[in-house]
Amino acid sequence: MKVHSPPNIGETLQSVWDSGFVTEGEYSDRFEKEFADYIGNPNTVLTNACTNSLVLAGRLIGLREGDEVISTAMTCMATNGPFHNTGAKLVFADIDPETGNIDPESVKQKITERTKAIVLVHWGGQPCDLDEILAIAKEHNVKVVEDAAHALRSTYKGVRIGNHGDFVCFSFQAVKHLTTADGGALVCKSEEDAIRARKLRWFGLDRKFKCSSRWDQDIPEYGFKFHMNNTNAVVGLEQMKYIDGLIDSHIENAAFLRKNISNPHVKVTKSKADRVSASWLFSVLVEDKEHFRNYLADNGIASDQAHVNNLRYSVFKEYQDESLTNLKYFDKRLMNIPCGWWLSEGDLNHITQVVNNYEGL
Ligand SMILES: Cc1ncc(COP(=O)(O)O)c(C=O)c1O
Repeated sequence: MKVHSPPNIGETLQSVWDSGFVTEGEYSDRFEKEFADYIGNPNTVLTNACTNSLVLAGRLIGLREGDEVISTAMTCMATNGPFHNTGAKLVFADIDPETGNIDPESVKQKITERTKAIVLVHWGGQPCDLDEILAIAKEHNVKVVEDAAHALRSTYKGVRIGNHGDFVCFSFQAVKHLTTADGGALVCKSEEDAIRARKLRWFGLDRKFKCSSRWDQDIPEYGFKFHMNNTNAVVGLEQMKYIDGLIDSHIENAAFLRKNISNPHVKVTKSKADRVSASWLFSVLVEDKEHFRNYLADNGIASDQAHVNNLRYSVFKEYQDESLTNLKYFDKRLMNIPCGWWLSEGDLNHITQVVNNYEGL
């Protein structure tokens, strides 16, 4: 994984710091508008992390003790921690072993009268089965939260991720497609939720409040300090100039690997025809991943699992569920090989050749 560094980053940051307005302001407003246009949804609220966008989603849904949230354990800790902290009970659904994404059939089986939300993750950028999940949510009147940390510019049936569920959370963390060092966005289905989220990200105060003083306004609902600042936002604006080229490279590299990797010991995760993955990860399943990982390292190729089954963490011991067999299968075999914007044609040929020559244990 590499951090994309736009060429003018030093100058741009200097100008923000010289202006004295280093926190929320002109640049964070501009970046919010540009990002909203890019996603195609004006109800976009920038934050300081995807994790905190997920916290805001939990607050907007009104989760509390006694509620249930159906989620996937095959993800970053950041997906589930915010919901666990609301006091609601997490109920883990199984995943599709071909993609790593939450399985709608398993979600259906886990729904109860207490279910308030379904949380899904577009693993590696590959969109989940959104039609099926949204239909279940509609039938049971529950909210859908999408963790789209890997899925910037992914599309589902021709529509960009950010225009389906009730809340869609993006990450601008260091090694994501678009990085501001740290940062994130919460994209809401309803304008009302976006207006409330804009207040909640800054203690509960409206930054645009027009009065003799901003301090004259009441705080009817206390929020958080989750806003994006000008320092990160100006980096985001610079990154936006390159983002399509970077994502194109991820998609083209993944297509190359998909076409050319052929080895019975290395199972490439499935790509579905009605959706485009932004290919943040290129996930494969192997029988002995440590052996595979060492073999790749010996050939100069870095690989990583990225995230592990969250049920490995003792903080989630109350949620253990032996029936999640696909989750265990996937977690045991998962390895991600490089597919990012930094790879040259030579790198791609080398990776393909090394993977194709892998002989297993
Ligand atoms: C799936 C997923 N969700 C959430 C996060 C957390 O993002 P952030 O660091 O922006 O809070 C990550 C970061 O790696 C992630 O991969």
